[in-house]
Amino acid sequence: MKYLFVGGAFAVLQIAVSAFPRVAQEAAFQLSRSVGAVPRNNEKSAVNFDPAAQLVDVKGAHAFTPPDFDAGDQRGPCPGLNSLANHNYLPHNGVASWTEIYNTTVSVFGLGEDIAAFLAVYGAIFDGNIVSLSPGYSIGGPTLLNEDVLGGLGLLGTPQGLSGSHNKYESDASACRYDLYTGGNDYKVDISRFQALYDLQSGAASPSYDLSVWTVHRKNMFLKSKNENPQFFYAPFAGVIASTGGFSFPPRMFSNKSAKYPDNGILDKEILKSFFAISGPDDNLTYTYGHEQIPANFYRRAIGNEYIFAEFLSDLNMFATYFPETISTGGNTGTVDSYAALDLGNLTGGVYNAATLLEGNNLACFVFESLLAAAPDVLKGGYSDPSGPMSTLLDNVNTLVGSYACPTIETLNEGQFASYPGADYASGGGVL
Ligand code: HEM
Ligand SMILES: *[C@@H]1O[C@H](CO)[C@@H](O)[C@H](O)[C@H]1NC(C)=O
Ligand SMILES: *[C@@H]1O[C@H](CO)[C@@H](O)[C@H](O)[C@H]1NC(C)=O
Ligand SMILES: *[C@@H]1O[C@H](CO)[C@@H](O)[C@H](O)[C@H]1NC(C)=O
Ligand SMILES: *[C@@H]1O[C@H](CO)[C@@H](O)[C@H](O)[C@H]1NC(C)=O
Repeated sequence: MKYLFVGGAFAVLQIAVSAFPRVAQEAAFQLSRSVGAVPRNNEKSAVNFDPAAQLVDVKGAHAFTPPDFDAGDQRGPCPGLNSLANHNYLPHNGVASWTEIYNTTVSVFGLGEDIAAFLAVYGAIFDGNIVSLSPGYSIGGPTLLNEDVLGGLGLLGTPQGLSGSHNKYESDASACRYDLYTGGNDYKVDISRFQALYDLQSGAASPSYDLSVWTVHRKNMFLKSKNENPQFFYAPFAGVIASTGGFSFPPRMFSNKSAKYPDNGILDKEILKSFFAISGPDDNLTYTYGHEQIPANFYRRAIGNEYIFAEFLSDLNMFATYFPETISTGGNTGTVDSYAALDLGNLTGGVYNAATLLEGNNLACFVFESLLAAAPDVLKGGYSDPSGPMSTLLDNVNTLVGSYACPTIETLNEGQFASYPGADYASGGGVL
């Protein structure tokens, strides 16, 4: 059995390469705990605005520097990570270790440590390389640019990066990125999607793209994919969960905080354009691939008011209440407008069902448990079952997930995916 040691500022984690993604969760939560981040509830004390602490440095070493694609720099579907690389918070070549991704998404944007650890580790497992001293991945496409990070093996073969993670991390019906099948790529801005978002505030006296705007946009983008993409597919993790970040992260973390708006901030047109690499006047919006930029005088979320998992779940609940398809796994069956949700009861062996998904802890549990249950599919490469140290890790996971009292999904009935041609459109492994 191979082991991986993650050192540095954090507690040393011992991770076996079997039994992912349970291990991903455990690593994430070990890490969260080691830096003192335990899942918190939604109760907030008053949010204080501290301009000195919240101003994001975009000068000197952190001045905007566009990618040099000829030199192999990587940029992909995530405007958060692209902008971090463009400002040299992440390595400028776009290949980063998961600890760097964890650290900078927390310290620059105020992402909660619990979500940051989870997303960062998940990417290394499914899109990058975990069997190296410095596990990490490309925020764009496949590359061998950083041997420290990518010197080992990907769990699913050659690491494909985030751009190559369609249906595992990257999803159809994105906020502003193309659907892979209709757009030919899944990582560039589809200007028609951006324009649709932009226009939602065209009549507003003082435009701000707050959560309610992104809620409407999410419904519209789901319907756009349904109506235009015969191979539209919405996977349990990539669609329901990861894609939620694409719609909740901007109002939560791209909005500019101030004394007047210390919590929700303001996300106006100029800030929105800057983070999505769009320039030009309203009637001639122009996209420049890879040029996502943190605007000058940008104030991040208040220290201590990070965007934690509990708030994410409450936002997901909001999306789902407005447009229930948001949490329905399924897709078109080969023609446009043929969307069929798969039967959640069937998928999960009767453990979860759509009717009760918004009750109690069910949604959080579905997230955890469907990931855990997906493990055998990911492990097609022949990794063996856990034993020894693994069982300790699993105990820890179970303790954490146990705090949510989740009913266990034994296996995901992935036979259900057969009716969706778009589910086969995944590189290097199964749907997640
Ligand atoms: C912590 C590590 C992170 C990872 C591994 C990650 C990864 C991804 C991936 C794979 C997508 C594509 C999803 C899709 O196809 O819809 C995505 C989209 C997105 N991410 Fe991230 N992300 C991270 C953090 C962040 C942060 C901190 C922000 C903002 C502050 C952010 C903002 C966004 C947005 C707005 C989109 C939607 C892009 C679009 O549709 O045009 N992400 N991210
Ligand atoms: C990120 O790294 C910096 C520099 O090593 C450190 O001061 C900071 O505490 C780290 N932040 C997190 C959230 O780990
Ligand atoms: C729109 O912007 C592009 C890129 O800046 C420019 O080349 C083009 O001339 C502009 N078109 C109009 C009609 O202004
Ligand atoms: C953020 O808000 C402050 C206070 O209103 C303002 O001075 C600053 O210019 C704003 N930043 C951006 C990028 O709009
Ligand atoms: C569940 O799905 C499988 C595969 O699609 C199908 O054969 C089976 O009949 C379904 N069972 C129920 C109870 O719907």
